Amino acid sequence: MTQHQQKTVLITGGSRGIGSAIVSRFKKEGWYVAACAKSEKSFTQSLADYKFACDVSQGNEVKNALHSLLNHLDQTKKSKKIDLLINNAGLAGTNPLDPDSSDELWEQILGVNLHGTYLMSKYVAPLLPDETGKIINISSVLGLKGVPDQSAYCAAKHGVIGLTRSMALYLAPRRITVNAICPGWVRTEMAAQRMNELGIAETDFKTSVPLGRFIEPFEIADYVYQLASTPASAMITGQALTIDGGAIL
Ligand SMILES: NC(=O)c1ccc[n+]([C@@H]2O[C@H](COP(=O)([O-])OP(=O)(O)OC[C@H]3O[C@@H](n4cnc5c(N)ncnc54)[C@H](OP(=O)(O)O)[C@@H]3O)[C@@H](O)[C@H]2O)c1
Repeated sequence: MTQHQQKTVLITGGSRGIGSAIVSRFKKEGWYVAACAKSEKSFTQSLADYKFACDVSQGNEVKNALHSLLNHLDQTKKSKKIDLLINNAGLAGTNPLDPDSSDELWEQILGVNLHGTYLMSKYVAPLLPDETGKIINISSVLGLKGVPDQSAYCAAKHGVIGLTRSMALYLAPRRITVNAICPGWVRTEMAAQRMNELGIAETDFKTSVPLGRFIEPFEIADYVYQLASTPASAMITGQALTIDGGAIL
């Protein structure tokens, strides 16, 4: 494969958890991988070719970081094309509908999950190739159902699905597809923190998840890779695809 043929993927939140597993999967398949996280220091063992810090909730940071990435791609690959954008950066938090709930936390959670997906997508969409470009947004099963104490996270992840459908229609004339993935419980720091709050253990999944176990980050990464690469996905767009071991049936 020449440098010019090698495809480029940009993954947000690529330093840890699901994002880090997606980075490894695409590297294994020979893609050029660019990944951002809130802090560059959190990329401890990442295989990404180009790692950078960017708070996806801040428009100016997104614009400046993409400008630097494009200059880098131009110098190293003689191309400013990005084939695939994966909006994975996420932030969860407890935020019930209570007068004492923090408005700042509401804004942060909406900012990272929803505004960040919108900002990255609007600046990367012009760089995607017609006919083959793709965007994959990581939503959640909480984008499909509510829980009482996660108002901001549920609103943001439902919003990501609405945005996915709107973007899919907007980009359809260019034959670019946009889909959302809705994971259930995935073994990451985010899930560990939530389980701690709820006072539940992994053994509880034997009853609450029909398939009876955690999803491993590499399983989400495999699914994302298949969606991004198989010709069988060419006509799939605007969908919210669930991978949750049957948890919300
Ligand atoms: N784990 C689950 O059970 C589960 C279930 C459903 C959906 N999801 C979704 O899957 C995605 C990945 O989750 P995860 O469990 O892997 O989370 P995680 O382990 O907490 O990792 C979160 C990632 O997002 C990055 N990030 C956070 N705030 C950011 C910001 N303002 N700008 C840029 N990057 C930011 C973090 O960067 P730093 O390292 O610099 O903080 C990190 O790379 C999220 O969208 C999450 O909502 C997770």
